[in-house]
Amino acid sequence: MKATAKANVNIALIKYWGKRDEELILPTNNSLSLTLDGLYTTTTVHFKSELTEDRFYLDGKQVTGVPYERVTQFLDIVRKEANEENLYAEVRSENHVPTAAGFASSASGFAALAAASTKAIGLELTEEELSRITRRGSGSACRSIYGGFAEWKMGEKEDGSDSYAVQIAPKNFWDIRIAAVILTDEKKSVSSRDGMKRTVETSPFFQGWVESSFTDLTRMKEGIENRDFAMCGEIAEANCLKMHATTLGANPPFTYWTDSTMKVMQEVRKMREEGIPAYFTIDAGPNVKVIYLPEHEEIIQKRLQAIPEVTNITLSKAGDGITYL
Ligand code: PMV
Repeated sequence: MKATAKANVNIALIKYWGKRDEELILPTNNSLSLTLDGLYTTTTVHFKSELTEDRFYLDGKQVTGVPYERVTQFLDIVRKEANEENLYAEVRSENHVPTAAGFASSASGFAALAAASTKAIGLELTEEELSRITRRGSGSACRSIYGGFAEWKMGEKEDGSDSYAVQIAPKNFWDIRIAAVILTDEKKSVSSRDGMKRTVETSPFFQGWVESSFTDLTRMKEGIENRDFAMCGEIAEANCLKMHATTLGANPPFTYWTDSTMKVMQEVRKMREEGIPAYFTIDAGPNVKVIYLPEHEEIIQKRLQAIPEVTNITLSKAGDGITYL
């Protein structure tokens, strides 16, 4: 009853921002992402009859507190599904998502945990079923089941049975790349969980965000199908700006941006004015991800590196979905 799985992070081009059900993690809109290569988590789950509780080790160190609780609560869902409610596991995760890369590792972390634990306990799941259960750990993780481009369909049912991700296009469909730009003045941010909740409950801009995200998603899929970089880039950037606009309307108001975030945004716009196609997107933190094509990698890297507030840049291609080791 042991299995090991590897999962990559993903970056949303159309953001997931807002839940309609906190407990089941059901979103208020569909989202669309690109799974990245080389930034991943590997997790081994070993169910053992002699254990009386779960144990969780991250990079060799035993984890307690809230991160541990999130793992055991997720394993409870897996145990229930397998009718093995008294079987506990030893979970060992290795994170290959350097904190310096500015990605939340929850997407790769929960995707790897879901894949390894369901396999170890003997559940035979389709990718859609795996994505659906992964969603319960962390929403964005349900997209990391697939390589390339994935869409998380919000679904309509109250029990969440129609809320899971599907693949839109495999990784070799289109070589678009992402530079993760890390900044110096990283301030303590509101978690995505809390930020979404506050926005849903208090921001008058939230409804506008939800409504426009459906048009953005339809157009993004068209752009991907036609490999239209300018179209995809423009939509991704505008979608990200609308998501972040909702936080300014929240009560109390907040923003994930710092002045360094805005400097990178300005530089990306400046490059575009000079004819270098680059677009930005930003998640629940101050760092910026820049979307570009391989032929502009060198110049874009150089221009971003020249910004004094930039401390680190990680370049990624499209990556694979879940693999079992
Ligand atoms: O799944 P969570 O709770 O990590 O939320 C992710 C939310 C964003 O990163 C801001 C957007 C997204 O779709 O990934």
